[in-house]
Amino acid sequence: LDNGLMRTPPMGWLAWERFRCDIDCQNDPKNCISEVLFRDMADRLAEDGWRELGYVYVNIDDCWASKDRDSNGRLQADPKRFPSGIPNLASYIHDRGLKLGIYGDMGTFTCGGYPGTPLDKITIDAQTFADWKVDMLKFDGCYSNATEQEQGYPAMSKALNATGRPIGYSCSWPAYQGGLPPKVNYTQLGEICNLWRNYGDIEDSWNSVLSIADWFFNNQDVLQPAAGPGRWNDPDMLVVGDFGLSMDQSRSQMALWAIMAAPLFMSNDLRTISSGARTILQNKVAIGINQDPMGVQGRRLIKLNLNEKSGIEVFWRPLSDKASALVFFSRRTDMPYRYQASLGQLNYTTGSYKIYDVFAEREMPTLKDSTNFVVSINPSGVVMWYISAPADQENTHIGGKLRG
Ligand code: DGJ
Repeated sequence: LDNGLMRTPPMGWLAWERFRCDIDCQNDPKNCISEVLFRDMADRLAEDGWRELGYVYVNIDDCWASKDRDSNGRLQADPKRFPSGIPNLASYIHDRGLKLGIYGDMGTFTCGGYPGTPLDKITIDAQTFADWKVDMLKFDGCYSNATEQEQGYPAMSKALNATGRPIGYSCSWPAYQGGLPPKVNYTQLGEICNLWRNYGDIEDSWNSVLSIADWFFNNQDVLQPAAGPGRWNDPDMLVVGDFGLSMDQSRSQMALWAIMAAPLFMSNDLRTISSGARTILQNKVAIGINQDPMGVQGRRLIKLNLNEKSGIEVFWRPLSDKASALVFFSRRTDMPYRYQASLGQLNYTTGSYKIYDVFAEREMPTLKDSTNFVVSINPSGVVMWYISAPADQENTHIGGKLRG
């Protein structure tokens, strides 16, 4: 969506995967969906180095609303759990240089059973969110059918635009229609939404991360061209820092999400996150790859098949300034695997390349396209490289021009 927003994938924090619909503030005051939780996360984003790296959205998900609309038919926050109200929360968040995201649902109810936004409420709800100074809306799709969604998602896009407030727009529409053409029209989505959930919900497990990554790369011919500045595929939240992933698996999620140009919404507890998980999520080069201004989504180059028995898959993303990223990913379950290849075999053209190992955080010796290299990849782990344009590329070009 060309509204000037989200020219690189949005980054921040989203409540759902980690905190779900915990509304028991009586017994679980620190973890329930309340203004305390969002203020806490805003504090952490602002004070622990996240904001400077680009993690600026603090996003509310389901279960924030009161069960009833107010006397003017407007949505309202649950008064017990958000006693100061959303506008106050928004200014708390803005005061810290952050942005506030909220959640709605195209349908009668949200998935959690709170008031939804049926077709006749789209205008008033868009205006309410704008009046509250919200910066992003995630528009879920429970309790509506395909016909209503076809009307509602474009209508909300128009209604948000009509408020005059810049509001990033995340559409769950494709996830409710199987994520693939002909039911899903990615050209249209790119015109009306800044990002969209294509597939099912992530859970705090390696299985879940792997099945999502597999679905996205198995369908890359459809999905990859749909993405670009202002319009992103969303494979769902980062669960790095929760309970389900090992450190290697956490690096794998970060690396694959960077290759996919995915929105980076962490759903974890920033108050108690381990330093290991924080280091992965705050890796500047991995973030830089994710946030590349050219905004071209990456692809899987080498997939496990009958010829490729190593258990290693290779992913690639072109970056601005003729740079690129490679990810070597192990599906093995035995031991670190020594994978041998050359850049030439991975479609790189003649030249000698500068390579930076993203998670080892070190420069590697310069590598010629024809030289064989070996990388050791841990089970369910990755090695990620940032590759600079070959030093002699300029000369090759000029030489080519002169010759031509
Ligand atoms: C389904 C969405 O896909 C999830 O991300 C989350 O928003 C839940 N609904 C909330 O009920």
